Order: sequence, then C-alpha cells, then structure tokens
Amino acid sequence: MTDAGRADRSHDHDDARSPGNLPRDATPPELRSGTSGRESAIADVGVVIVAAGSGSRAGGNELKQFRWVGGKPMLLHSVQTFQQRPDVAMVVCVLPKAFVGDPPPWLFQCDTDRLLLSVGGRERTESVANGLEDLPDEVDIVLVHDAARPFVSAAMVDRVIAEARRGHGVVAALPVVDTLKEVDDELHVLRTVERTRLWRAQTPQGFPRDLIEQAHSRARAEGVGATDDAALFERLGLPVTVVRGSERAMKITDEEDFARAEALFAVPE
Ligand code: CTP
Ligand code: MG
Repeated sequence: MTDAGRADRSHDHDDARSPGNLPRDATPPELRSGTSGRESAIADVGVVIVAAGSGSRAGGNELKQFRWVGGKPMLLHSVQTFQQRPDVAMVVCVLPKAFVGDPPPWLFQCDTDRLLLSVGGRERTESVANGLEDLPDEVDIVLVHDAARPFVSAAMVDRVIAEARRGHGVVAALPVVDTLKEVDDELHVLRTVERTRLWRAQTPQGFPRDLIEQAHSRARAEGVGATDDAALFERLGLPVTVVRGSERAMKITDEEDFARAEALFAVPE
C-alpha cells in the first residue's frame, strides 16, 4: 500500500500491505463498476479470510490452504468467490507471517485493489482479530471465512449477508442428520443426544462490524478463544441466527478430505 493509501485508514494494522505495492483504487466505492447489474450497490462488506494455520492434520510439505483442489490453490477459490460481489469492499487474507512478505504469486489472480494481506496469530481467534483491524473504514458488514472451506457458494454468501444486514450475527450451518451418541473414555455410550436442534456451523459467518469488533476485543481482554466467531458473539448475549450452508462448503481438515472435496466440487450445487 502507498503512504497516501495508508493515511486515510484509521483501522490500519502495521503488518497489512497491499500485494505488489499497488495503489488502492481511489474511486469511491459507490462509483466503482460492478459485474452483476448491482453497480449502484454501496460496497460496505469486508471479508476476513483466515489462512494462517499450519494445516498440521492435513500433513504434507505444502500448507493445506495453498494446495490445489478443484483446479486451483485452495485459498484462491474463496478470494475470487467473494470478489465476484460488487458489495465487497475489501478481502483481507490473513497469512502466516513469512507469506505476507513473500506471498504466492497466484494470489494476485484477483482484484488486487480489493486485497489486503495481514499477519496471522498463534490461534485462529487471533488471526481473525488481526484481519478485523485491517478492514477499511467503509466496511459496515464483516464476513469471516476459513480458507479451508474453498467451495462456498454464491447463494450461501447471499444468505449470510442478507441476515447480517438485519443487525445480528449469522452462521452458515447445516442441520445434523445422524443420530448422536455421547460416549465415555472407553467408548461406552452414555446417552443419545437430541439432535433436532443441532446444526453444524460452517463459514462464512457474518456480523455488523461494530459488534464483532467489540466481541473480539472483549475476548482478547479476557483471554478467551473459540473455534468460531459466532461463539464470541454468543458469550456477550448478542443474537446469532443460522442460515442454510452447503455440503460443498465442508472444511478440508485431513488428507482424505481433499478427495471428498474434489468429489463434491464435481457435483452441481
Ligand atoms: N487459522 C488461522 N490462524 C491460526 C489457525 C488457523 O488463520 N492460528 C485458519 C486456517 O488457516 C483455516 C481456518 O483457520 O483456514 C480453520 O482452521 P483449521 O481447519 O484448523 O486449519 P489449521 O489450523 O491450519 O489446521 P490444523 O488444525 O490441522 O493444524
Ligand atoms: Mg487448526
């Protein structure tokens, strides 16, 4: 990012930088041209894609989020999906520190005017917090997304943003269909858990910016972490709703998940 670009942003983070040192688009968001007939929409959505994990369960030499799946590097799928939307003002990719200084070249196959790189933390919660700090001023709605879920659908993103605009937290999720058993350490079944009210949380998750910033700063002050951001919202008693996610938005965790994700990718939504 140029010095001029940096000066107008109060939420700047020391480590954030625009890839390739390109100047940021000086066109006001409401005047930027879009591609889907929604050119007049004000771009007020900021996306934080967390990609700063070590992928230890997936193994291998290359970082999980940089490995190819569905024809391109995992992280690039979600960057491009979010940037298809004209209401997205900025995508902040949170990367391991070494890659912020030396990003993979394929990452620039996107709208680099709407891409910032941010340095990750030791835990996911910290990585999200760092990304939030780098969102530009015009952002009112924040989406947080795991790079490890490359195949999020446009319809699912629509649902999350529409709900977040109503002023509460939103989780893309799927209802649990299997019967659930709680077991003890010896794998003896203790009980059958009522599943009708249980949903599996995915990402993206959406939030009004001011509230998610509050939730993260409270979590940081109190030393609380969580595996998703909605949990930080919930602990403050803030409302969170679920919207329907997608099987294709599965999280790639283990080596075997790559083959499963490829298979789901091949099936039309
Ligand atoms: N993540 C992150 N910063 C961390 C830890 C995780 O940005 N300190 C990101 C990951 O890159 C991933 C998402 O959070 O996109 C969900 O995490 P997970 O699937 O657990 O990925 P890893 O932490 O990389 O994998 P593992 O737990 O197997 O090491
Ligand atoms: Mg992890």
